[in-house]
Amino acid sequence: MDVPPPAELLERVRSLRAAGPLLAGLPDASDVYLVGGAVRDLLLHRTPHELDLVVDGDVAEIAAALGGELRLYDRFGTSTVRLGDFTYDIARSRRETYAHPGALPDVTPAPLDVDLLRRDFTVNSLAAALAGPEAGVIRFPSGALDDLALGRLRVLHDGSFRDDPTRMLRLARYAGRLGFAVEPHTRELLDDALAAGALTTVSGSRAGAELRLLASELDPIAALVSAGELGIDRAIHPRLHLDDPELAGRALSLLPADGRRDRLALALAAREIPEHELAALLESLAFEAPDRDAIVAAATRAPELARRLRAAQRPSQIAAAIGPGARPELVALAGALGAEREASEWLTRLREIKLEIDGSDLIAAGLSQGPAVGRGLAAALAAKLDGLARDRAAELAEALRAANDSG
Ligand code: CTP
Repeated sequence: MDVPPPAELLERVRSLRAAGPLLAGLPDASDVYLVGGAVRDLLLHRTPHELDLVVDGDVAEIAAALGGELRLYDRFGTSTVRLGDFTYDIARSRRETYAHPGALPDVTPAPLDVDLLRRDFTVNSLAAALAGPEAGVIRFPSGALDDLALGRLRVLHDGSFRDDPTRMLRLARYAGRLGFAVEPHTRELLDDALAAGALTTVSGSRAGAELRLLASELDPIAALVSAGELGIDRAIHPRLHLDDPELAGRALSLLPADGRRDRLALALAAREIPEHELAALLESLAFEAPDRDAIVAAATRAPELARRLRAAQRPSQIAAAIGPGARPELVALAGALGAEREASEWLTRLREIKLEIDGSDLIAAGLSQGPAVGRGLAAALAAKLDGLARDRAAELAEALRAANDSG
């Protein structure tokens, strides 16, 4: 890849809103670099979503010079600096060693070039100097620019996946997002690591965090398809696999804006896992309970819901098939399984329809508290959904009729 001249690269950095306060405050001679995904994205003419900084020197000094608020996070020297509305990750350049495969790294300060070599993939190991005479110059390990130009994901050393098996999931994420190919030797190393069960050396919460990032990609289908092609999904669970990207596309396109694409994508990949096993798997991967429940519900109940929806004629029957409290991910998946019209009608219209009356109106009209109130309200809602109760008075009349009828 042709590296843009320093002035042009700095111009690209400057065009990012988040770069303003940073560039304005950097001391002239400081060894501060933009690193990782942001440099990769700038060279690919993509917009970086965050700016990560590395300092070959004292982080606190730079933060103070910038006038920012520095927050230290962990023993890895990770910290953030806040400047106005923006927060940047900032770290001392460092060397990482792993006490055993899958362990969290031990870190010691080291020059920038060493820091770049400890990283996951060559395309993520680029650094752009932000200040001093080298400002705008890119530093990179050998081969990194060719890999970027050719769209190739390559690890920097043979022990990369063994040291940090979460990189296998990152590999799938970048392959899906960037459409990059996995370089053949990296693929061999991946296969070896998978065969050796490398993923089992990291905690469930770390593997889970990477899986959540994978599913949170802008195009989670591409990411999961890549994970499948690389055999990484089945290393998490033998039946975790997105086998039908077209179905996935239909389901995602039915999902309304308040639905969660990550949950739906994971549900799509988890359809073959029995319910209890899936709940236990998600728990072991440290999913939060609401995420876990939504994924399990969509993955395991969608086929049955699709059958019920196909049999539904009237809007009230669609709503009854879906029932109260259903999440949009379940309904979208059921829709994609052959009940598109019904699912779409509920997702775009029916679920918003609410009664103007409530229980207190029925009690004021003479009903006593009890199951009849619920029955009446349910009947009024069904009538309203079917267009048979067009105003408040009609709702009340229908509710009272149903309450008295069956009571
Ligand atoms: N990194 C790594 N190994 C990991 C995680 C991260 O080497 N297991 C390095 C990579 O160089 C990566 C950088 O740390 O570029 C920052 O990580 P992260 O913020 O997760 O990625 P980004 O660079 O921001 O890339 P993106 O968010 O676009 O995926």
